[in-house]
Amino acid sequence: RTEALQSLLLHELNDNEIISNTSDLVFEGKKVTLQDAQSAILSLAAKSMIEFERHELDVFVLTQEGELVCKEGSHEARVFQEICQSMNGLTIDELKSKLGNSAGVGQGKAFKMGWIRKEGAKLVKNTDTIVDDTQSKLQKIKDVGKLDDTKALNELKKRKLIEKSKVVYFSVKKGPKFSLTVEKLEADLTSEMLTNGSWKEKKFKDYNFAADGVPPRGGCLHPLMKVREEFRRFFFELGFTEMPTDQFVEIGFWNFDALYVPQQHSARDAQDTFFLKKPAAAEKLRETDYVASVKNTHENGGVSGGIGYRAPWSEEESKKLVLRTHTTAVSSQMLYKLAKDGFKPCKYFSIDRVFRNETVDATHLAEFHQVEGVICDKNLTLGDLIGFMKVFFGKMNARELRFKPTYNPYTEPSLEIYSYHEGLGKWVEIGNSGLFRPEMLSAMGLPEDVRCIGFGLSLERPTMIKYEINDIRQLMGPRVDLELIEASPIVRLDK
Ligand code: PHE
Repeated sequence: RTEALQSLLLHELNDNEIISNTSDLVFEGKKVTLQDAQSAILSLAAKSMIEFERHELDVFVLTQEGELVCKEGSHEARVFQEICQSMNGLTIDELKSKLGNSAGVGQGKAFKMGWIRKEGAKLVKNTDTIVDDTQSKLQKIKDVGKLDDTKALNELKKRKLIEKSKVVYFSVKKGPKFSLTVEKLEADLTSEMLTNGSWKEKKFKDYNFAADGVPPRGGCLHPLMKVREEFRRFFFELGFTEMPTDQFVEIGFWNFDALYVPQQHSARDAQDTFFLKKPAAAEKLRETDYVASVKNTHENGGVSGGIGYRAPWSEEESKKLVLRTHTTAVSSQMLYKLAKDGFKPCKYFSIDRVFRNETVDATHLAEFHQVEGVICDKNLTLGDLIGFMKVFFGKMNARELRFKPTYNPYTEPSLEIYSYHEGLGKWVEIGNSGLFRPEMLSAMGLPEDVRCIGFGLSLERPTMIKYEINDIRQLMGPRVDLELIEASPIVRLDK
């Protein structure tokens, strides 16, 4: 439709050079509306085929009453006609019954014009013919929207037969690229045009820098990060401070040796741990005194009261660089710092990424996240550990807990924490914990009566349970399910 109207415009311009008012054009049997004119004009102008101007004109239009007068004559003319049609005049009341409200205004005006006079109780005609000026002036206004006679104009306004209005229209003339046919411009350069070379002949649309862009898709928090926020909230509520875990590469010393992990332990095998190739090792260990006491403790128990592993400890082995296998590599540094700065009771936590050289399957990733907490104070007991776990996991409504002895090189005793999961209908392991060994704490120089509770869990496990995700690979890695990531709502672990 727009194309047909454009063709009409172009032919009109071809014949007459100019269209002074687009509203005068007739299209499909009707006058062209402003909207139609606009949509046809804008795209032609964008191609420089035409130039146009928008005009605004103050005009007068007839009111509803004005339209009636224009059609049937003025009130005064109608009074005159009624009187002419009667045999010998009409009384006011008779006039009113014929013309209604118009009778009053009409007879007043007709008197003034000298068209009628009074004879006794009757109104009779005073002339044989009249010219209805009011009607013809309204007709003129209806045709051209204006009247040069300002006095008459004001009179008609006062009688509420006309009112002010605005008319918008376009004038159009030929543009520098005028032509009778509208060339179809390409909006997109396609791979097909490139391969068959047709792009060379094609004409392309100009960029429209004023156009609104495609709204960007909103970013979203990863479900793991949503659950992470929940854990952070719990920790902050319980007065914990966050540990700095922004370093993925650690010296084996902090990841293993400071934690009293024997150098022959299987976790230190390349099968379980990612070792760095370049550089493969730290140049030196900075804390020489501490390193000496770690060596001493590993070899013969040092000041811990134990007897150590009774095997040689190699500094070279501890200098190897690894992708940290647990966030306990940061806890060990924090505890050493605490011993060095002077012991104060403390509660630390972290939630961050760790790496293990594991075969990826539905429940294992080679990189995942750990939630870790450390509580350090004088004379803490296993009862404190169990009590705290009840408070902590109680925050996410895991109220039935079971504890099972386990082994960690750095804690004694060590407990696995289980919770009964209603949905899954079974006991699931939700964490690992323990009291850090004296071998670890004494080598750091922490006072003898200081006890330290440590615990850790994966962030992925509660996330999968909450979002009912069965395959961990949907969450992270090359097979990640982006739709699932975007659609996952926020969670409340306590709900
Ligand atoms: N580091 C342990 C793990 O990776 C968790 C843990 C932290 C256990 C602190 C005891 C103390 O599972």
